[in-house]
Amino acid sequence: MIEKILPPWVAAEEAFGDPPDATLFPEEEAVIARAVDKRRREFTTARHCARRALDRLGLPAVPILPGERGAPGWPPGVAGAITHCAGYRAAAVSLDALTVGIDAEPHEPLPDGVLPAIALDRERAALARLGPGVHWDRLLFCAKEAVYKAWFPLTRRWLDFDEAHVTLTRTGTFTARFLVPGPQVLGRELTGFAGRWLAADGLLVTAITVRPADLYGRSTSG
Ligand SMILES: CC(C)(COP(=O)(O)OP(=O)(O)OC[C@H]1O[C@@H](n2cnc3c(N)ncnc32)[C@H](O)[C@@H]1OP(=O)(O)O)[C@@H](O)C(=O)NCCC(=O)NCCS
Repeated sequence: MIEKILPPWVAAEEAFGDPPDATLFPEEEAVIARAVDKRRREFTTARHCARRALDRLGLPAVPILPGERGAPGWPPGVAGAITHCAGYRAAAVSLDALTVGIDAEPHEPLPDGVLPAIALDRERAALARLGPGVHWDRLLFCAKEAVYKAWFPLTRRWLDFDEAHVTLTRTGTFTARFLVPGPQVLGRELTGFAGRWLAADGLLVTAITVRPADLYGRSTSG
């Protein structure tokens, strides 16, 4: 399903369960040696997805180790992202992108008390105007997680929930405007991201992609 919200220059693979034939490299095994079963499963299946996606780019199977602040370490020249939630795992990679951010969440309301912690007042006000049919609070969270995953490889900096203003539309798109200085990319400051979202099969998925061509002519990209 995530391919529906990604451009053709991004390869994505997803899984709705944990295939028994998914394997890890010894370096990856070492990372999760003491992890609980749930973490082991999501980590392993996400790597299975990532290697299948890399294969579609013509790249060999390599270990994908968590690096600085947990960001996945991709082969040189690859931008990508990983997500997992109950019943879903996905990886998206590209040789043409400057950055990629994806996220998946169960299509359910956020637990009580979470929305005030992750939303600006104006974002909460906007959610109330979007209408029925979608758990907009969860979608806002899902979009913000994708923003962080796309932001981090460009900046190596933290981005707090109140440091980007996310605007959702009913038509499957969203924008994020940075409220702090944005990343310098190819000599320009990126002031925000554009993304897409989809609700299907009890899940919400979001995706952000930026490639060099997106930097010319406009400051955000999708
Ligand atoms: C890191 C974070 C975004 C992960 O999102 P999540 O919904 O909890 O979990 P997901 O399963 O979707 O994603 C987990 C994957 O994110 C990736 N990830 C973790 N840290 C990352 C980082 N700093 N940069 C990019 N990707 C990262 C990893 O690949 C991880 O999977 P892995 O450990 O198996 O490799 C989240 O835990 C977090 O810290 N959020 C706070 C920052 C934020 O969202 N700010 C909002 C800005 S508007």
